[in-house]
Amino acid sequence: MALAHLPFVLLLVSSVAAFAAGDHGLTHIHLYVHETYTGANATAAAVLQSPLGANSSFGSMGVVDDEIRVGPDRSSQLVGRYQGVFFGTSVQLGAGYLSSITLVFTAGEYNGSTLSVQGPLLGFTGTIERAVVGGTGKFRLARGYMLFKMISKPTPETDVNEINLFVLMHPAGKY
Ligand SMILES: *[C@@H]1O[C@H](CO)[C@@H](O)[C@H](O)[C@H]1NC(C)=O
Ligand SMILES: *[C@@H]1O[C@H](CO)[C@@H](O)[C@H](O)[C@H]1NC(C)=O
Ligand SMILES: *[C@@H]1O[C@H](CO)[C@@H](O)[C@H](O)[C@H]1NC(C)=O
Repeated sequence: MALAHLPFVLLLVSSVAAFAAGDHGLTHIHLYVHETYTGANATAAAVLQSPLGANSSFGSMGVVDDEIRVGPDRSSQLVGRYQGVFFGTSVQLGAGYLSSITLVFTAGEYNGSTLSVQGPLLGFTGTIERAVVGGTGKFRLARGYMLFKMISKPTPETDVNEINLFVLMHPAGKY
């Protein structure tokens, strides 16, 4: 009876050991999201207003297709797009959104891969933390978290946001 469990226990022990060996630890990705609110090159748009009126965000919807660059400078290398939707999900006053974002890499080390970030946006100040729930390509089966912080508004139409992602790569993701 007890022996029947042995292979399972061995499997667990060996996968924990492989993990602890550090081949697939946390990967830190540090990049910048550049957003433009209005004009010919806008990367963000409000799509739907709340049915509860202009003072509510509940049921509102927005969409972004921001640039991901290696630095805070708009002339720094473009490595992907920050594409997502925001839904107002709080009936109470103040911000309360569900965001679903795909980081689509088009250059650099992660070219061709994507990361899916999901979670709440309970305000627009300070550092916003959301979960990395998966990915494709080099990020298959990945998970982790993303810290997002607005760092500057170079013009009234634009802002620059620093993102730090800590991603647990999964050993089985290479298959
Ligand atoms: C939009 O982007 C193009 C290409 O980078 C640029 O030539 C143009 O000046 C920009 N337009 C505005 C309104 O920023
Ligand atoms: C929004 O709130 C402001 C301030 O409380 C109020 O004056 C205004 O009438 C409200 N607007 C709507 C559309 O409810
Ligand atoms: C990114 O990958 C695509 C598809 O493999 C390739 O066509 C493209 O040249 C790559 N871009 C860069 C900047 O490496």
